[in-house]
Amino acid sequence: MTDTRFQHRHLLGIQGLGPEEITTLLDIADGYVEQNRSVDKRKNLLRGRTVINLFFENSTRTRTSFELAGKRLGADVINMQAAGSSVQKGETLIDTAMTLNAMHLDVLVVRHPDSGAVKLLSEKVNCAVINGGDGSHEHPTQALLDALTIRRRKGRLSGLTVAICGDVLHSRVARSNIHLLNVMGAQVRLIGPRTLLPSGVERMGVEVFHDMRRGLEGVDVIMMLRIQNERMRGNFIPSIREYFHFFGLDQAKLALAKPDAVIMHPGPMNRGVEIDSDVADDVERSLIREQVEMGVAVRMACLDVLTRHLPNRDGAA
Ligand code: NCD
Repeated sequence: MTDTRFQHRHLLGIQGLGPEEITTLLDIADGYVEQNRSVDKRKNLLRGRTVINLFFENSTRTRTSFELAGKRLGADVINMQAAGSSVQKGETLIDTAMTLNAMHLDVLVVRHPDSGAVKLLSEKVNCAVINGGDGSHEHPTQALLDALTIRRRKGRLSGLTVAICGDVLHSRVARSNIHLLNVMGAQVRLIGPRTLLPSGVERMGVEVFHDMRRGLEGVDVIMMLRIQNERMRGNFIPSIREYFHFFGLDQAKLALAKPDAVIMHPGPMNRGVEIDSDVADDVERSLIREQVEMGVAVRMACLDVLTRHLPNRDGAA
């Protein structure tokens, strides 16, 4: 088994991880990509372990891929949604976590609308906790799967120029990606209207562009972000039509990037709002489907490394 240079108990964010730790996770995930493409996808690495997916927000890709990842490693996986749980009856986040903790689970994957909620919860439980997205703070497994997708296509992360475009203000995906790409030596550009870029974001070591055409010049990777209406109070954009005109990715804007530039989107996509279907479905340039595939492998790698540190409960007092 690969010697793990990942010594954290939880995976709460990319911030604070070093290049070796990120590389370790990506290398392990790379191995799982091959396994997932074979007929026999199952391993017994996590036999006897329990993974609970606790989701207080909607999810398609993240929840399903954590479920598949756990099952492919042989764990028992349970999905819990806030709707249908006692959260609806007023149970607090901590009480819910403590209840689950009492059932001796090994890994808790949590998605929550409040930034910081997952960290708070990780301080109360004995199991390993993985952040499946907390508010507009972090979404570490998304940044890891994005990095794996880029690394497999481009052969590296270091030295690439990556444009992250759109609703950066509300995006935990953007925040985790900025940390990861910076640490791995890529150059990050943020592109969007002033209303959708956090003030002072330059301090994160990125270049900021309000003109998408200028921002896309010569980039290697274009990451498009969804307009997150559910996190907006008030009007951040004048109209969908105007937004698409200035900040939607279409073939004309794509032509300004490098000829071999690739297109990414974490999903769910709003076709015709931030991205034209023509571009999203471009088989040569769009990596959107690969991102989903890498999501399972990356989540297997995360479950793998975090459970290596758990005490063997049968042997423990
Ligand atoms: C993202 C999320 O929920 O943060 N989706 C995902 O996990 N792939 C991005 C989004 O909702 O726009």
